[in-house]
Amino acid sequence: MAQQKKILRALAGETLETPPIWMMRQAGRYLPEYRATRAEAGDFLSLCYNSELACEVTLQPIRRYGFDASILFADILLVPQALGADLWFVTGEGPRLSTITDKAGFDALKPADAIHEHLAPIYETVRMLSRELPKETTLIGFAGAPWTVATYMIAGRGTPDQGPAHALKDGNREVFEALLKRITDATILYLSEQIKAGAEVVKIFDSWAGSLKGDDFINYAVKPAAQITAALKALHPDTPIIAFPRGAGERYIGLHEAIGADCIALDDGVTAEWAAANVQTGGCVQGNLKSSHMVTGGDDLVRETRKIVDAFKNGPHIFNLGHGITPDADPENVQLMIDTVRGL
Ligand code: CP3
Repeated sequence: MAQQKKILRALAGETLETPPIWMMRQAGRYLPEYRATRAEAGDFLSLCYNSELACEVTLQPIRRYGFDASILFADILLVPQALGADLWFVTGEGPRLSTITDKAGFDALKPADAIHEHLAPIYETVRMLSRELPKETTLIGFAGAPWTVATYMIAGRGTPDQGPAHALKDGNREVFEALLKRITDATILYLSEQIKAGAEVVKIFDSWAGSLKGDDFINYAVKPAAQITAALKALHPDTPIIAFPRGAGERYIGLHEAIGADCIALDDGVTAEWAAANVQTGGCVQGNLKSSHMVTGGDDLVRETRKIVDAFKNGPHIFNLGHGITPDADPENVQLMIDTVRGL
């Protein structure tokens, strides 16, 4: 029965003796088998759009480690591409996109409901995964949050302070808000289709939420996420939603209710003790071991892992990192983290 899956039990509010565990970017360059499949695909985007190979890399960390969840292999920047933006990845540097700086740039985008043809291979990957995953493994779909996706669409690349996106927001609010709405509408359609294809949980990644201050955090991080959850809950009331407003700090308080999410994912900027007292009171939390422990390992990894398990033990908790695992991580440290969480 679906509800027996540990991740779904935690998301339903159950306190489990051993928290279920998965890891952001668990299919990635720290794994030799990922690097081999990526080389076979040619490049990162070709891998994302090749359902068979995307399914293969999604399954690799499940075979190696037996994580409780697998996350669809794709990228948050496929939605801008489906809306008509050019997208490419520069090796060693990251993503590049055509930029949107004015009304003409916004007007050139496709309507939200035109995304499905472009994203059909992603839905096919989800269908393949729901057939091939072990029956105890939960399949998580995802999308970027509107603000984070907009920061890339406006600047055309990752930026340390999201300066160009703040400049458009403060300089041309009408175009900025129209862009956010277009991304919000597309994200609802995209996640809904992932759920129809077999995603059992969806996660909204707002990696740059922390750079929104004051009312901007409410208007451009909380409200769009709340619109997405409300729309998805109306269509798919039984599908749990994880929200990850990274860098929220003290503003993590009250977000389960404000966003309407079943789980709030925590970055490593807050301590587990603080989050247990202030955030887990609102529902399930996910997180929040520093990714750097996957590079350095040893006693520190074991101690910090136990500290997090212990801090969250009186409420619903999914163990995870505070951000994605990095390419320089040692696969053996991942095993050590899992064994520590499972008390092996
Ligand atoms: O977690 C997972 O394993 C699922 C797949 C996934 C990827 N990206 C694969 C990926 C998910 C959920 C993402 C989300 C994503 N992508 C975010 C939000 C989460 C976060 O990390 O903050 C963002 C901001 C992006 C955009 C993006 N994609 C950047 C900035 C980069 C380059 C940085 C880097 O690590 O190289 C990517 C590339 C990317 N996305 C890789 C992977 C496995 C590395 C690509 C490669 O193989 O070279």
